Amino acid sequence: MAQLPPGAPRRGPKPAPDGNDAPIGVVPAAPGLLHPEHPLSDDDRDLSLRPRSLTEFLGQASMKENLSVFITAARERNESLDHLFLIGPPGLGKTTLAQVVANELGVDFKVTSAPALDKPKDLAGILTTVKEKTVFFIDEIHRLKPAIEEMLYIAMEDYELDWIIGQGPSARTIRLPIPPFTLVGATTKAGNVSSPLIGRFGITCRFAFYEQADMEAIVRRSAGILKIAVDNDAASLLAASARGTPRVVNRLLRRMRDFAQVLGAQAITRQVVEQGLKRLEIDALGLEKHDREILRIIIERYNGGPVGAETLAISVGEAVDTLEDYYEPFLIQSGLLQRTPRGRVVTALAYDHLKLARGKGDTGGLLF
Ligand SMILES: Nc1ncnc2c1ncn2[C@@H]1O[C@H](COP(=O)(O)OP(=O)(O)OP(=O)(O)O)[C@@H](O)[C@H]1O
Ligand SMILES: [Mg+2]
Repeated sequence: MAQLPPGAPRRGPKPAPDGNDAPIGVVPAAPGLLHPEHPLSDDDRDLSLRPRSLTEFLGQASMKENLSVFITAARERNESLDHLFLIGPPGLGKTTLAQVVANELGVDFKVTSAPALDKPKDLAGILTTVKEKTVFFIDEIHRLKPAIEEMLYIAMEDYELDWIIGQGPSARTIRLPIPPFTLVGATTKAGNVSSPLIGRFGITCRFAFYEQADMEAIVRRSAGILKIAVDNDAASLLAASARGTPRVVNRLLRRMRDFAQVLGAQAITRQVVEQGLKRLEIDALGLEKHDREILRIIIERYNGGPVGAETLAISVGEAVDTLEDYYEPFLIQSGLLQRTPRGRVVTALAYDHLKLARGKGDTGGLLF
């Protein structure tokens, strides 16, 4: 069999943290292939992979069923859909679903993200261009500035835009009507969204990590679009190694296509996937090296925990946000890590998975 290509494409290393934040003895990891935090360059190249309708949008069955009812009802009444709040970890399909909703309603789609809205006039600029029933998508809605959030409340509730004309003592506020539209807000951090804003959304969709069968269906769909032949058991291994995340499984599929091509294989077989995953240091649970490193540090330096999030973040060379948003959800979901009031604690499964013995005095994660 031909030689595998050296190393897998990865993102460049993060800039080294400076001064006091420098982690002790740990080189910060380049965010791995499996971490869907920000799209990698070729995630967006295959826009063709993005589902365009609810039928193409696989998985999340109960969420989809309800949404389909709300969309049909709004369409039959010829009204705008109620404001929609999308919550879930990165890469599960929030942006995709917002676009799908606009397609299903047959209306305009406008998109922005909270960090891009710097001044109220940035939001006003968009709101003055919305048409009746337009779907207006704001990504990372937990990062809205207070002044902009205030403006959005009025727009969502009264379909009006508060606008200040003039300056100083002669300044006055006028209210401009805007057509009824649908705001779709997405966040990975629902806990950071203010309750007045949450209260203004009529529909909430919570994304769960995708089931194995749905992940396999996504592999088959993407492979079909990219015209890649994938064996059945290769598809199921890929699906199982992509941490329940469509963005990640599409990314892995492209990397396996690279391996298959260089190996001269006609199709992505189980053998190609096994070798490819080994090269990428992805294990049977879908963990990357850095995930294992986090568990190992908790075990070896903190006796299995509990260890506070800040301390752990410094030890593993990550920002607390990155640790909490991107690494922990999957480790928790896999039953390897627990969040407790006193800090992070690894479970017995983590010891078994890393093949590490519990040391003396180690409570095995139990708190006394
Ligand atoms: N239900 C699905 N069926 C098939 N493919 C999907 C599905 N959901 C997402 N995808 C694929 O995964 C990719 C990532 O989805 P998307 O960009 O919508 O995630 P996101 O939740 O918005 O992530 P982020 O939080 O990083 O913005 C899409 O480009 C699409 O190809
Ligand atoms: Mg998105």
